[in-house]
Amino acid sequence: MNPTIVSKLPGVGTTIFTVMSGLATEYNAVNLGQGFPDYPMNEELMSLVNQAMHNGFNQYTPMQGYAPLRETIAEKIFHLYHNSIDPSTQITITPGGTYAIYTALTTVLRPGDEVIIFEPAYDSYIPNVEVNGAVPVLINLQFPDYKINWDEVRKKITPKTRMIMLNSPHNPTGAVLNYEDILQLRSVIEHTNIIILSDEVYEHLIFDDIPHQSILRYPDLLQRSFVCFSFGKVYHCTGWKLGYCISSAEMMKEFRKVHQFNCFSCHSPSQVALAAYLKNKDSYLSLSSFMQAKRDYFTQLMQDTRFELLNSKGSYFICAKYDRISDEKDSDLAIRMTKELGVATIPVSAFYKAATDNKVIRFCFAKKDETLEAAVEKLRKL
Ligand SMILES: Cc1ncc(COP(=O)(O)O)c(C=O)c1O
Repeated sequence: MNPTIVSKLPGVGTTIFTVMSGLATEYNAVNLGQGFPDYPMNEELMSLVNQAMHNGFNQYTPMQGYAPLRETIAEKIFHLYHNSIDPSTQITITPGGTYAIYTALTTVLRPGDEVIIFEPAYDSYIPNVEVNGAVPVLINLQFPDYKINWDEVRKKITPKTRMIMLNSPHNPTGAVLNYEDILQLRSVIEHTNIIILSDEVYEHLIFDDIPHQSILRYPDLLQRSFVCFSFGKVYHCTGWKLGYCISSAEMMKEFRKVHQFNCFSCHSPSQVALAAYLKNKDSYLSLSSFMQAKRDYFTQLMQDTRFELLNSKGSYFICAKYDRISDEKDSDLAIRMTKELGVATIPVSAFYKAATDNKVIRFCFAKKDETLEAAVEKLRKL
C-alpha cells in the first residue's frame, strides 16, 4: 500500500507567479513581473565574497551568524535608528527574509491562534500561518492608498489574536507606514499579548526622504517583535537568499531553537563579505536615491501610456490602474499582455486570498533603463 499524506496546505496550488514566469519565458516577454533586478550587483561586494572564499571562510559559521556581521548590523542600527541592539543575543542571520518570517511564525504560533494579515500580502504569509495550524485573519488595505484601517484592526482583535504582520515598504503596492500608524499600532496592542512580525525586507528602498518607520526605532515595540530583513533584496542579489531577524533577547532565544535544527548556519563567504561591505555607510545610504531614480524614470516613461500609476513610496514596485484601457480581469489582462505585447507583469489580485480585483497590475522597476524603455515602448501600444 502506498502511504498517503493529508495535505497541510490543501488550498495551495500553482500560483500566478509561476504561471506568469512560465509565460514570460515562453513568449520571450520583457519581464517586469517578478521582483528581482536584471542589472549586475555591486562589484566590490562580489570581490569581497571571492576574497572571503580564498581566505578560507568556507566552513560553518556559528548558528546565530558570523559575529562581525552581527556587530556591523548592530552599529548600523545604532547609526540609523539610535537603538542599541545586542548582537550576541538579538540578531540571527538567516537564509533570506522569507525563512526569517517562517521561523518567527513557527516559533510563536500554536493551532487555533489568529494572525492578522493585511492584503494585498506577500504570498508566503498565509501558507506560513496555515502550516502552523493557525488562522489568518485578513484585512484589506484601503484602496487606492493601501493604508491600514486601524478601526477595522480593533474590530478583528479577539482573545485568540497572537500576531499582527506588517510590511513596510510594502510589496506589491509600495505603500509605507507613517508615524501615525506606529501610534495606532501601539494603542491596539497595549494590554494584549500580541506579537508583531515586521517584514522590512525593503528597508532603505524608501523614497522622497520619507523616514523608514522601522520597528527598530521603538524599543517598546521591539520587545514584542520579530523584525525581518533581506540582504538579497537590498543589495541587488536576490539569489543569495541571505537575511536576518532581530528581536528581544528572550524571543530570539526561542527563535534560535527552531532555527538551529532547520538551517543551523548560513552561507559563510557572503556573511564575511557583508561584514566588511556594510562598514561603509554609503553601501546602504546610497540605495534610496538609486532606486528612487528607477521609479522616477519608469514613471516618466509611463506618461506616454494609458495606465494610471498609483503612488509608490518604496520597494521595487509600482502599481497601475488600467480602467482606461480595458475592463478585463487583472489576471486576464496580465496574461494577454504577456502573450500579445510581450510584457510580463503581476495582477494584484494574486496577493489576495479571495483574488480581489481592483483592476490593478504590478510593475517591478528594479530593472536596467533599457529594460524599462523596451517594456514601455510595447505598453504604448495598449
Ligand atoms: C514582502 C517580502 N518579504 C520577503 C521577501 C523575501 O525575501 P528573501 O528573498 O530574502 O527571502 C520578499 C521577496 O519578494 C518580499 O517581497
